[in-house]
Amino acid sequence: MSRLAPRLLNWYRQNKRTLPWRDHPNPYAVWVSEIMLQQTRVETVIPYFERWMKQFPTIKDLAAASEQDVLNVWEGLGYYSRARNLHKAAKIITEQYGGQLPRDLDSLRQLPGIGRYSVGAIASMAFGLDEPTLDGNVRRVLTRLFDVSEPADSSAGERILWNLAAVHLPKGQAGDYNQALMDLGATICLPKNPRCLICPLMETCKARQLGIQEKRPVMKPKKETPHYVHVAAVIVRRGRVLLAKRPPKGLLGGMWEFPNARVNGDPARELVKAIETATRLKVRRKDAFGLVDHAYSHFSLTVHAFRADLVSMSKNENLKWVRVAELEDYPMGRIDRQIARQLG
Ligand code: ADE
Repeated sequence: MSRLAPRLLNWYRQNKRTLPWRDHPNPYAVWVSEIMLQQTRVETVIPYFERWMKQFPTIKDLAAASEQDVLNVWEGLGYYSRARNLHKAAKIITEQYGGQLPRDLDSLRQLPGIGRYSVGAIASMAFGLDEPTLDGNVRRVLTRLFDVSEPADSSAGERILWNLAAVHLPKGQAGDYNQALMDLGATICLPKNPRCLICPLMETCKARQLGIQEKRPVMKPKKETPHYVHVAAVIVRRGRVLLAKRPPKGLLGGMWEFPNARVNGDPARELVKAIETATRLKVRRKDAFGLVDHAYSHFSLTVHAFRADLVSMSKNENLKWVRVAELEDYPMGRIDRQIARQLG
């Protein structure tokens, strides 16, 4: 083993961040926090984590909750399949493992939403097993320490990085070691202007020696993301508004939205036809209600919302008249929440 781990652990002991899921022996809390932290920053996660643990204090409580409640607590964190998978996994854990997170890697790996990263994080932090993990912060730290020039998001790069994450792991201290790499990445080894002068690993960092720390990690060239334009119909009748429930899987699965459809030309002119084709609702357009933009990971979207009257609708279980005063009970993505709040 190199000098890497002792130096890093020593730094961690003195500098680790105080985080609500740290240093208490609750595997469920570790699991929830790791899933939340996968695509979201620590500062954003903390209040969500605390609300989640208050509302669903145990895995059994989570298993017994409705999907609507689960998505409501998650609303605003994005990547909602994470919440649906936590919920699904909680049901499996309750049925098959008596409500306790299983300790063996194979059982963990088979749970929905738990991939290689989460297995390593949970196994090391919750169960003290000698397992590596590799999130965005760890990846950046390792590519710099060892000057990895292979794209970090390529399969060759990943192989190199998982290997590096494993070979320097100190036996019996993997949980602290993994979190030390994460904290170093979050507070010192920053993407831009890394704070090398106060880094405990400055002298061993290959990229720093070469002066190319900001050129690591190398990533594959990004594809351009497409931009789409939608129209949405805000249909209000006697204090209620018509909402549509999205299909259970995929983007914003199971969440609610204003009936909407993609357009290619002028939104105002195309609204009636586009809404009818996409939702089978016949509407009459009224005044413009507002315009909302949002960037998802793989595309960006502008939604032009219009007030509209309903002319006719065919029976559809995914449509629901919801009291304007109760809109907050219905989980929505950012765009629809913004429209909904304008109504309230
Ligand atoms: N990012 C993901 N998991 C983390 C953890 N346990 N500590 C700090 N940052 C993290």
